[in-house]
Amino acid sequence: MCGIVGYVGEQPALDVVLEGLRRLEYRGYDSAGVAVLDPSGGGALTVVRRAGKLANLEAALAGRDISGTLGIGHTRWATHGAPTDRNAHPHVDCTGAIAIVHNGTIENFAELREGLEMRGHELTSDTDTEAVAHLIEERYAGDLPAAVRSVCAELDGSFVLVVTHREQPDLVVGARRNLPLVVGIGDGENFLASDVTAFIAHTREARALDQDQVVELRRSGVRVTDLDGAEVEGETFHVDWDTAAAEKAGYDYFMLKEIQEQPAAVSETIGGRIGADGRLRLDELSISDEDVRGFEKVFIVACGSSYHSGLVGKYAIERWCRLSVEVEMGSEFRYRDPVLDRHTLVIAVSQSGETADTLEAVRHARQQRAWVMAITNTVGSSIARESDAVFYTRGGPEIAVASTKAVMTQLSAVYLVGLYLAQVRGTRDSDEVRSHFHDLATIPALITEVLSRMDGTRKLARDLSGEERVLFLGRHIGYPMALEGALKLKELAYVSAEGMPAGEIKHGPIALIDKGTPVVVLATRHALQPKLVTNIQEIRARGARTIVVATDGDESVTPYADHLIRLPDTKSLLSPMLTLVPLQVFAAEFAMARGLDVDQPRNLAKSVTVE
Ligand code: G6P
Repeated sequence: MCGIVGYVGEQPALDVVLEGLRRLEYRGYDSAGVAVLDPSGGGALTVVRRAGKLANLEAALAGRDISGTLGIGHTRWATHGAPTDRNAHPHVDCTGAIAIVHNGTIENFAELREGLEMRGHELTSDTDTEAVAHLIEERYAGDLPAAVRSVCAELDGSFVLVVTHREQPDLVVGARRNLPLVVGIGDGENFLASDVTAFIAHTREARALDQDQVVELRRSGVRVTDLDGAEVEGETFHVDWDTAAAEKAGYDYFMLKEIQEQPAAVSETIGGRIGADGRLRLDELSISDEDVRGFEKVFIVACGSSYHSGLVGKYAIERWCRLSVEVEMGSEFRYRDPVLDRHTLVIAVSQSGETADTLEAVRHARQQRAWVMAITNTVGSSIARESDAVFYTRGGPEIAVASTKAVMTQLSAVYLVGLYLAQVRGTRDSDEVRSHFHDLATIPALITEVLSRMDGTRKLARDLSGEERVLFLGRHIGYPMALEGALKLKELAYVSAEGMPAGEIKHGPIALIDKGTPVVVLATRHALQPKLVTNIQEIRARGARTIVVATDGDESVTPYADHLIRLPDTKSLLSPMLTLVPLQVFAAEFAMARGLDVDQPRNLAKSVTVE
């Protein structure tokens, strides 16, 4: 949560920083602020910050002449202190010489603050961040990186800090623990940001910082040290997508664009996976066949929509590999002390690669000597770097807070990983693995077909947009998608929505059904579909308005459907990749009909880096 930008170079810093914040606004939009240093005429450090979305800050800046080629910026998801002007970042010290932006939570801030107040500092906000500005003020004796290192050593919790000092016109200092900070390496200019989208318009060469590292950013170059001040080497990486991927490209919302990008995203994820010998290759995983054969148990750990992808993975891996799989939310996993050892494979699924609960689950699993594989969309992310192996989903940037194409590519990934495990363990022969892969390779065209049929779903969503409760039912492989359909509607439209296994409703939830209650039933063709037809009759008999998602040509559901959404046929295990599309479109249209911003739903942030 919170987006951070730092810049030093030759361009007007305000423009560069604001452009970066625009791209990072998905990380939080409770307030925004900038600090720009103008070294001419004695050096002025101008700080402007406003509660609310970035547009409020831009309005406050309109018409002001703030020059300077060094700046920092922040877009906030509030933790300590309400989302007000005075709690907005950047925060400054008593002298106004130091400005600082922060992502994370400083756990010992109360005691630090008390000490500062006793020593005569005047703190003006309710944030944990402001204490850090004053601590740096105390430690600063002309060497800003040294002051930042010394303060970081005393902080408990997680943080990314980016700091500037009026006396240092060619220096921005950044530091990180547990949260992401990436350096963008330019020519005569350098960048810092929470993720690469903030600076890809300027450079695609990047370096991710490691735990407890401090970076000194100057026009001429970048120096990274540990907290003792020893310089550390690191690898740079090239970002292989460009700014167009992070633009709305004519769509009203990123979410609508990202839904349309799904066929291409899946093609990217599954492309090049079959070797010349006809075998599935996931070379990037670099797990030895011996390790794969030694796995006795699999856990899939994830949060939010990624958790639903994990649930689908369970069906695929159990079916193809005959390995027992448990799927667990990152926020629960480590607290129940799961039984893990070297023969356990833990798969962490995370679009951002930064979700705090999933990251902590990865750390816990590695401490217990389990084998950890990350499925993530973000190169260089914490989860990628801390896992034994990484499968990158290659979905490109996902900006809308509600996940769509990332989930779709995660589904592709869990199928590929399942097939790969089956191939190596010999639980499926190579012909069968190839045949399943070919089925998967037909999915992008089928998604395109589904997308072309969505007019009816959109109209239905608009018609139903006054409803305050919608239920989603599925069975077997349809159940995780019922959960995802409900989550999408909750997060976008603020409607009470529940996803349930259809066989379970008679044990309580059926009491929710009243005359006209909309119930979306995911009834594409699979082994349990006949039982689902019975479930549809049960709810319809109690007055439900049934919206049935069914396979082309299947007439068994027609008599019981008030509305039908038809999907092309595919192998039942792969059906979530088609079912997902109308659920996304339905939720987005429903929310837009209520006048809501589907890219930035209230109270949410895309990357949840607090526990
Ligand atoms: C947030 C987002 C969700 C996402 C979840 C997990 O809650 O709003 O869309 O599914 O985090 O994020 P991750 O990056 O770990 O997949």
